Amino acid sequence: MTELAPRLSAAHRKALPLLASGVPEPSVVGYLDLLDPAPVPAPNRAQALWSRRWGAAFYANLQSMRRRLMDVNGSPRDRLRPAPGETVLDLGCGPGDITRQLADAVTSSGLVVGVDLSAEMLTRAVRDASAGNIAFFRGDATRLPFSDGMFDAVCCSAMFQLLPDPFAALDAMTRVLAPGGRVFILTTHRGRGLAERLSCALVGRLSGARMFAPSAIPDALAERGYRDIDQRFTGMLQTVVAVR
Ligand SMILES: C[S@@+](CC[C@H](N)C(=O)[O-])C[C@H]1O[C@@H](n2cnc3c(N)ncnc32)[C@H](O)[C@@H]1O
Repeated sequence: MTELAPRLSAAHRKALPLLASGVPEPSVVGYLDLLDPAPVPAPNRAQALWSRRWGAAFYANLQSMRRRLMDVNGSPRDRLRPAPGETVLDLGCGPGDITRQLADAVTSSGLVVGVDLSAEMLTRAVRDASAGNIAFFRGDATRLPFSDGMFDAVCCSAMFQLLPDPFAALDAMTRVLAPGGRVFILTTHRGRGLAERLSCALVGRLSGARMFAPSAIPDALAERGYRDIDQRFTGMLQTVVAVR
């Protein structure tokens, strides 16, 4: 990695010490690629969309709708409250809109690391992020390349429902979070009333995305020793914050 350092941005140089020992040398393509360049097969229709160039462009254009949905129950920045100087992981960062908001909050003394599986999403994220405190990596949420306890907070917005094994990602997030660190998860749920349950089932069927039982995420957090679990529902979405 020492030979790599001179070719990196200041933010990537700051992020290198977070990597676990034995992680292979990444390739530098604006973001640091820690995965095989061969395309990763998408586990469902929704992830297939986010892996395509037009899908990533379409997602970036959904910004205002997405922001409205998230802001009903507080944005990731409001709920996670990143402080200046903190190190924050934005998992499944997509085109990096939330990454940039988190980077504003941690200021130049902090660092936000955005990780995503999709090269197309990361290409957009790198293009739109000029801040010196953001480092993007291509990696898999279930096999995070970072050492234990490196992050003060982890944001995971709209990714859990796409994963074949979301609880493996929760284990990985927990491992890299420092004791007392905060986690924010925005994802889907199965609905509570009958009408909500029917529309959630339809969306799940059409998109292939997982719809979680309403107690599944808080229960999984409690099993992993999290406290101060705060869950809120907005339509088909839920947000959950908790402290490790
Ligand atoms: C719906 S987008 C959400 C983007 C962003 N977090 C937001 O809320 O705007 C979901 C993102 O999760 C990424 N993703 C899916 N599976 C992943 C995995 N196993 N590891 C890392 N990222 C993944 C997708 O590529 C996509 O960019």
